[in-house]
Amino acid sequence: MTLVLGIEGTAWNLSAAVVDENDVIDEVSHTYRPSTGGIHPREAAQHHAQHAGQVIRKLFENIADKGISSRDLDAIAFSQGPGLGACLRTVGTAARALSLSLEKPLVGVNHCLAHVEVGRWKTPAEDPVVLYVSGGNSQVLAYRNGKYRIFGETLDIGIGNALDKFARNAGLSHPGGPKVEEFAQAAASYVPLPYVVKGMDFSFSGLSTAATDALSHSSIEDVCYSFQENAFAMLVEVTERALAHTGKNEVLLAGGVGANMRLRQMLKTMCEDRDASFYVPEKRFMGDNGSMIAYLGLLMYKSGNTIEVANSHVDPDFRPDSVEVTWL
Ligand code: ATP
Ligand code: FE2
Repeated sequence: MTLVLGIEGTAWNLSAAVVDENDVIDEVSHTYRPSTGGIHPREAAQHHAQHAGQVIRKLFENIADKGISSRDLDAIAFSQGPGLGACLRTVGTAARALSLSLEKPLVGVNHCLAHVEVGRWKTPAEDPVVLYVSGGNSQVLAYRNGKYRIFGETLDIGIGNALDKFARNAGLSHPGGPKVEEFAQAAASYVPLPYVVKGMDFSFSGLSTAATDALSHSSIEDVCYSFQENAFAMLVEVTERALAHTGKNEVLLAGGVGANMRLRQMLKTMCEDRDASFYVPEKRFMGDNGSMIAYLGLLMYKSGNTIEVANSHVDPDFRPDSVEVTWL
């Protein structure tokens, strides 16, 4: 059995886990909750710095209870990007310190691909088109010729950030996504809002602003509903075209926005119409989590994909299609 420890901390969630090929051995997380408004990058990084020691210590205690010591680990993996620079640097520093002190190889993991691989691990999906929707990211990805290609992506902000920004303007607390979903369920009618798909890409910034403006003449329930209908239809349209283009017959949903039931329903309907299978992992594997970093770290380690500490700088704009897939 291979054992890898992984650390995630690209944004709001600091999370560390140990996994083997089959399962999560243990995971410990500590979540940053903004005092006001959205995520403040500097505050989030301070949170991660303050709690990293305690999270790792607790993880070591928990695995010790299961008969595993730090000596048994094969590698240390960390989220190398994309994400908030200050947060990435904090987590990178913790991972390097562990790698050096335990004398274990270091693995630099692309956060987006970790979302994809944990989904392939924890559902029957084999070679899916992946819709990855979170706060900072919105992408349609699929594997082809040695890399995960980006078939479509947001031209501005992620769908989660668009929902959070609108919700904040509506006076709701962070994170806004779940609150928008709840209001949408009580809507009476649809309010026209922008629908922006350009080629295979989509844009959410104008939709978020238009939804905020619509609050001056429409109920929050109707605006939330209309925001969701437009944004999700844009995502489903591009996912469907990626299926047609690649000839694949599976869709995997990843990222925190994947918790949304309306989005799931729309994707399920589209997949049924095309005879494609639709897969959604358990909720704990959808938002940011240490297990996904440890798991892709394990796949990379086993395929010889480790890095020297000297070359382990983080990359806030780390693109998944720049990664050579060594593990498939
Ligand atoms: P990444 O670093 O990949 O961008 P993230 O830091 O945004 O990830 P995630 O946990 O993947 O973290 O996603 C958080 C986002 O998910 C937030 O924007 C939140 O509003 C959104 N979200 C959570 N639940 C729901 C829901 N039920 N409906 C819509 N959005 C949701
Ligand atoms: Fe994420």
